[in-house]
Amino acid sequence: MTEKTYLRVKGGSPLCGTYNVHGAKNAVLPMLAASVMTEDEVTVTDCPYISDVDDMTEVLRALGVAVSRRGRDVTVSGKPTLTEIPPHLACAMRSSVFMLGALLAETGEVRLFTPGGCRIGARPLDIHFDGFRRLGACVEYGEDYVLCHAEKLTGADVILKYPSVGATENLIMAAVKAEGRTRLIGAAREPEIVSLVRLLVKMGADIAGEGTPVITVNGVRELEGAVCAPVADRIVTGTVMAAVAVAGGRVELNGADASCLGAVISPFLSSHTYLVEHGGVLVFESDRVLAATDVVTGPYPLFPTDMQAPFMACQCYASGMSSMRETVFEDRFAHVAELRKMGADIALAGNTAFVDGSRGMKGAVMHAADLRGGAGLLVAALGAEGESFIDGLRYLDRGYENIERIMSNLGGKVVRESGSLPE
Ligand code: EPZ
Repeated sequence: MTEKTYLRVKGGSPLCGTYNVHGAKNAVLPMLAASVMTEDEVTVTDCPYISDVDDMTEVLRALGVAVSRRGRDVTVSGKPTLTEIPPHLACAMRSSVFMLGALLAETGEVRLFTPGGCRIGARPLDIHFDGFRRLGACVEYGEDYVLCHAEKLTGADVILKYPSVGATENLIMAAVKAEGRTRLIGAAREPEIVSLVRLLVKMGADIAGEGTPVITVNGVRELEGAVCAPVADRIVTGTVMAAVAVAGGRVELNGADASCLGAVISPFLSSHTYLVEHGGVLVFESDRVLAATDVVTGPYPLFPTDMQAPFMACQCYASGMSSMRETVFEDRFAHVAELRKMGADIALAGNTAFVDGSRGMKGAVMHAADLRGGAGLLVAALGAEGESFIDGLRYLDRGYENIERIMSNLGGKVVRESGSLPE
């Protein structure tokens, strides 16, 4: 019998209390990457205690820079002495991709082994590499690596065929010290990109248009140290809201940034929920009666793909037929088979899931296959009758800080255990 670590969840307890929302994983990672663009100290504050941040710290140390952590503040200093992201790290996490632009700008060269991360589609990097070429870099493919190098980077107009978040962030960082002006046309608009730009501008970069489809970067020669806070994590905020929606209760989300939560919040709103925002606190209340919804994921400001699984869990409890169309990743329904073990009535047609929530859900033994899919399973288990068991916690721990504690501090019956999973 293999020893496993898993969550044991007993559904049906309402969730009440306060949760402090910390910095967004998807802002902290590119901000830490940008820190190698000066040898001065750069501090990113309010970082979550999650394994993706730990892994990024390891990547930075492997590149030769100094990284220290005091509470939630992570400080980086020194210049990278290596330009190769260690294979075992690149394969462990997708976030190593976010080093490409910063290292190319800083050292003129970067070698990346085939990155890992969640299995949610092919996740090519062509938009990143096409953009680097536009800025004057050469991109060479090896068996299991890609090598980008440039004598000099020169500003240019770069048209992105799709508003890729990572490509936008990498191209901003590659352009920051390029000679002349770069315009990223068709750029992604996510709040996490605005966070990255806020840090870069504090470091002395000349950037405008962040949060819009056209971002302009005028190259500068040097950057200096800075301290910057990331935007609050809108996906963790949405995940807690989804848990309250299925379990019932009332939560106060301290630090939630309502200005970037529009699309996340709107599918939750109905005559059976209550939501108000005052002074940086988002109050959300639900009586467990959920209305059927039709949701489509898309690039910001549309409904975020990272909320697709957690919100599908809510649709499993909504009377009537709901739909969830996933337009960002081509293979992000791994959680559907697991939700069906609980009795979910979900039919898949191409990139759309049709969910009939009228049957009710029972606890089951389930396996998380990716970060947000795992979060969706936990949300579903919190509303189900009986006990559920969820393994694959290494995925959940990438993006949620002690997710069992987040829910149990609100009254949810969730514990992390080790042992053999029930059959
Ligand atoms: C970022 O990933 C996030 N990760 C993802 O969050 C998020 O789901 C995604 O953006 C979309 O919002 C981080 O920020 C660390 P993309 P990224 O490039 O940059 C295609 C989580 O759970 N594409 O915007 O990798 C790609 O295949 C993670 O926190 C190309 O075709 O996403 C996908 O279909 C999961 N060519 C779509 O674009 C490229 O060169 C969106 O990808 C790049 C992307």
